[in-house]
Amino acid sequence: MSELITNIGELFTGSSGILRDAALVIDDGLVAWVGPRTAAPPADTVFDAEGAAVVPGFVDSHSHLVFAGDRADEFDARMSGQPYTAGGIRRTVAATRAASDEELAAHTGRLLDEALRSGTTTIEIKSGYGLTVEDERRSLAIASRFTTETTFLGAHVVPAEHQPAAYVDLVTGEMLDRVAGLARWIDVFCDRGAFDVDQARTILSAGAARGLGVRMHANQLGPSGAARLGVELGAASVDHCTFLSDEDVDALAASETVATFVPGAEFSTRQPFPDIGRLRDAGVRYAIATDCNPGSSYTSSMPFCIALAVREMRMTPTEALLAATAGGARALRRTDVGHLSPGARADVVLLDAPSFVHLAYRPGVQLVRHVWQHGRRTTA
Ligand code: NIG
Ligand code: FE
Repeated sequence: MSELITNIGELFTGSSGILRDAALVIDDGLVAWVGPRTAAPPADTVFDAEGAAVVPGFVDSHSHLVFAGDRADEFDARMSGQPYTAGGIRRTVAATRAASDEELAAHTGRLLDEALRSGTTTIEIKSGYGLTVEDERRSLAIASRFTTETTFLGAHVVPAEHQPAAYVDLVTGEMLDRVAGLARWIDVFCDRGAFDVDQARTILSAGAARGLGVRMHANQLGPSGAARLGVELGAASVDHCTFLSDEDVDALAASETVATFVPGAEFSTRQPFPDIGRLRDAGVRYAIATDCNPGSSYTSSMPFCIALAVREMRMTPTEALLAATAGGARALRRTDVGHLSPGARADVVLLDAPSFVHLAYRPGVQLVRHVWQHGRRTTA
């Protein structure tokens, strides 16, 4: 069954610029054709976009959706001046371990519905709130029900019952053995209060030796050397990048590693927003993701993160939308999503707005009206 979306006022393709008065044909879950409305080929069904803007589905390349409970009290304390620390992760670990598989899966599913309604059509999901062999395994099994972009984050923090060296042995030994078939990626939180650069190198190298792709939580709480380790290990992405030195920027610019920004975390932890200027000038590739988690960034909304990136990181609306689509795809080393060219997956977002600029211009407003995921339409 093919479907023609016609009367698109502004089509942001993510690959070949912006088309006005455009149309797009979906066939068998893929984009089959894009071009001027008047030249559109016939299709089995027609959908009238009524002059609204269309953008690619968002690619959220960093989320922690498998968890139980929340930490609104910590957020409240932060807004009264308390700093964010890695220590709060252990509270979510306790709640997650106590939850049943069904409870965890239902909660993850609710967050994913929320994300879909704000236009996210591809999402990466990490483990990291289990931190036992069995709890990491079941977290990844649950994540696998919802996405192929699954990430083993057994090295989130050292759980209370372990010494650091013994825990690194567990993560690189029995835990990795049990989860390797369920994860596409391995990640380490390499920062103050979590794992240092040497521990991170050991853990990531063990994962890479098992065929997992490398990604990292890097330079969130300070300039730790983590981002450069990511470059050294050929990471697909180093995420957060709140504190980057000039050496970090140079190393990233000379590499294929994407710098993924998660401005929801700066918002929710009252940390400084990184400025995109230096990275833009140096030619670093970058993405935006939500980092959706109950501690540092409890939002599933890519439009909110786009608005933050524009206002607080000084991206242009075009840069922010590219970072949230093609940038996220690059951070996941995917070429089939994040753009609307023939052959791409038909992940399409129809906005309740005449231009994609409204994503940042009208922050906090639900502008996503319809979402096609792999060609199947959902009304937001
Ligand atoms: O990406 N920094 C490490 N992990 C998460 C926060 C986890 C939490 O506080 O629960 C992050 O910010
Ligand atoms: Fe994170």
